[in-house]
Amino acid sequence: MIVSPSILNSDFLNLGQQINLLNNSHADWIHLDIMDGVFVPNISFGFPIIRQIKKAAKKPLDVHLMIVEPDRYINECADCGAEILTVHYEACTHLHRTLQQIKNAGMKAGVSLNPHTPVHLLDEILPMIDMVLIMSVNPGFGGQQFIEHSYKKIQLLKHLIVQHNASTLIQVDGGVSLQNAEALKKAGVDVLVCGSAIFQSSDPDAVIDKLKLV
Ligand code: DX5
Ligand code: ZN
Repeated sequence: MIVSPSILNSDFLNLGQQINLLNNSHADWIHLDIMDGVFVPNISFGFPIIRQIKKAAKKPLDVHLMIVEPDRYINECADCGAEILTVHYEACTHLHRTLQQIKNAGMKAGVSLNPHTPVHLLDEILPMIDMVLIMSVNPGFGGQQFIEHSYKKIQLLKHLIVQHNASTLIQVDGGVSLQNAEALKKAGVDVLVCGSAIFQSSDPDAVIDKLKLV
């Protein structure tokens, strides 16, 4: 299992320490949630913070853009050192072009689906997508309750990926914990994003290790 801890609910006053914790853990990537207050009802952090994180991080940056008009910021994300860039299906009028731009900028391209967006909408474009992010909460906040219908979407998506003989990864984000990680793996998930369950634990390393081994 690939584990990508989300720092959204970490201790921002000690961000360097939090990144070091992840550097020294078995986490694979670092998940960064960028929110614009328009696409989602919250504002998180932007490029100056990503640049600082990049200086300290020893793991790939997995950047999740919850913003409108993501095309405007693709090159800046690459310049900040993002390895994986995920945009929302619902925010892209010309998704094919957006994915081409992400790849031309040297990053892996991810597409995220909100809870209400069906996976079959990706049928035509799936082979171009390196990773599909299934939102298992409505995006905008950490610490929300996992939406159970997400299992069905993950299974349908897995089926679609096999049909296409594609190598697209399935990532799930929102309400992921030690309670549901195993079931998510069984449903077909390759990458777990996990925020509160890691950063609100008294032993984040142990949680990461257990998530890795599901
Ligand atoms: C939600 C974000 C998530 C969030 C996950 O909008 O995309 O990455 O930080 O946090 P938890 O694991 O607490 O649900
Ligand atoms: Zn996220």
